[in-house]
Amino acid sequence: MRLYSLLAAAKINLYLEVVGHRGDGFHELIMVMQSISLADRVTVRSIGVDDIRVRCDHPLVPRDETNLAYRAAALLAQRFPGVMAKLGGVEITLEKHIPVGAGLAGGSGNAAAVLVGLDMLWQLGLTQAELQDLGARLGSDVPFCIGGGTAIATGRGEQLDALPGVDHLYLVLAKYESEFVSTPWAYTTYRANFEPTYLADEAGFAARRSQVKSGAMVAAIAGQDGVAIGQQLYNDLEKVVLPAHPKTAQLKTTLASLGGLGTLMSGSGPTVFTLVGSQAEAEALAQRLKAALPDPDLGVWTARFSSAGVQLVG
Ligand code: C5P
Repeated sequence: MRLYSLLAAAKINLYLEVVGHRGDGFHELIMVMQSISLADRVTVRSIGVDDIRVRCDHPLVPRDETNLAYRAAALLAQRFPGVMAKLGGVEITLEKHIPVGAGLAGGSGNAAAVLVGLDMLWQLGLTQAELQDLGARLGSDVPFCIGGGTAIATGRGEQLDALPGVDHLYLVLAKYESEFVSTPWAYTTYRANFEPTYLADEAGFAARRSQVKSGAMVAAIAGQDGVAIGQQLYNDLEKVVLPAHPKTAQLKTTLASLGGLGTLMSGSGPTVFTLVGSQAEAEALAQRLKAALPDPDLGVWTARFSSAGVQLVG
């Protein structure tokens, strides 16, 4: 029996700008993505039968073909017909540590780990670029989740340019367990409210991309300047998600009032985070947040910036 165990890192967005429409129904984005040490453990194990099975004990994670991890395996099985008959099917076990439906790319990271794990289990010999191309068919964040680290993501989010790694920053993340945001809803609502601000065409997108690439956030990352990174945190989707989720808006206000280098909502939310300079500061800030908002519905985590996306651990 063969088995591979992988860690799939969560991501946060340090920057997210919606720049316009694309012909394919998605939005043209400019994002700065950052992997963090909060990670799920994903195990892929060969099974004798020609089948894909998902095991997960988290009540909110589906175990059927709607799970992106299942779809990652199905995509490879379809792309390489006969591989399961030759080498066996797969049982995928998801050990969740990343909050679900949180804007932290937990589902995308699980799919990324399945692609990397099955490439080994099924001896496919795919390159990272090939895995990322396949990942882009599953979701916009999957290509980033494979390699991880720090990167500018453009297009739908699947076009990646690596940035210098930032490894000395830590963070506190917080999310109410009962709060969820639908990503399609966030983008549709953004469009309904802000379409007049959209850039018209690819020439406009390209000009904006080069402005961001030579702009203050990328300079702050290149200079490893945590204070400046904190000042440049930005997310367009806050404009629609926070007004519709007053509890999360209040959480962001409270978290920001407790100190740190800067506070932002990640992705389409509802997780919010504050950057800090050390693990001790992260733990102290997490304690202050729990004291300020003593609510059993509030989940609080600490993490550090990480250079890893999917990592083989066994
Ligand atoms: O690619 P992914 O499955 O993560 O996207 C989820 C949803 O978010 C899409 O169905 C779409 O509604 C929205 N989205 C978008 N533009 C992007 C990425 C996501 O409109 N670039």
